[in-house]
Amino acid sequence: MKPSANTNIRTTLPLLPFPANSSRPTITTQRLVIHPLRESDLQSLYEIRSQPDVMRNSPRGTPDTDVSESKRVLGGYLAPKDGETFYFAIYLKSKDDDKMIGLGGCHRLSSMFGWPVVGYMIRREYWGLGMATEFLTAWLGLWGELERREVVIDVDARTLPVPIIPEQIVAWALADNVGSWRVMEKAGFEHLLTWKEADLRDPNVDAELKSYRYFV
Ligand SMILES: CC(C)(COP(=O)(O)OP(=O)(O)OC[C@H]1O[C@@H](n2cnc3c(N)ncnc32)[C@H](O)[C@@H]1OP(=O)(O)O)[C@@H](O)C(=O)NCCC(=O)NCCS
Repeated sequence: MKPSANTNIRTTLPLLPFPANSSRPTITTQRLVIHPLRESDLQSLYEIRSQPDVMRNSPRGTPDTDVSESKRVLGGYLAPKDGETFYFAIYLKSKDDDKMIGLGGCHRLSSMFGWPVVGYMIRREYWGLGMATEFLTAWLGLWGELERREVVIDVDARTLPVPIIPEQIVAWALADNVGSWRVMEKAGFEHLLTWKEADLRDPNVDAELKSYRYFV
């Protein structure tokens, strides 16, 4: 994204380190069980990240071809890194189908907008069933309940249209990844910015991106 003015503001953010995976709650929604990631989730994670459709819109654009790649990703969400990330596995609630169908959460407390960023992915076979929206809505509840601290942070000035600055969390996706930004809209996010920048998958072409934000 093109550089823009940053502004130093006082706001709140979750206290760091995040609660360890071992002390985080497991929550259930109508159809899902959302629990902290575990080492035993590696094979399912690899299966999900091996799906070309799932990875097409990721910065790299290509699926994992070796379980070691997924292991590196998983490592970013397990102890001791769980203090820096707030990621969860998404399982189906049904006892007949105890399967991890996705994952999501906050992988960076300071994104390019200065605010935390949330991301998610759902196994291809379960797209279009409202699973990501059900997850994101529940996850936002967990996020909102985290203990907070007052902070002074540098944020993109374009995220500050209001005089009193409430805490925000942001997400972005390729503009043609309609499914992803529909999930954000349905979970209560509002459109923030649309811009073009070099496509990380092929820097010779520009990709259009859309960012969204949610007031915590
Ligand atoms: C984006 C993703 C998480 C959506 O998961 P999902 O469980 O299918 O999402 P939901 O069913 O909750 O909602 C998707 C919405 O987008 C809509 N949608 C999906 N693809 C669409 C398309 N190509 N055109 C128009 N609408 C589309 C669906 O109809 C649905 O909206 P609706 O409920 O109003 O009908 C899933 O496609 C995925 O894992 N993609 C790969 C990873 C990714 O892109 N992650 C986001 C980066 S932050």
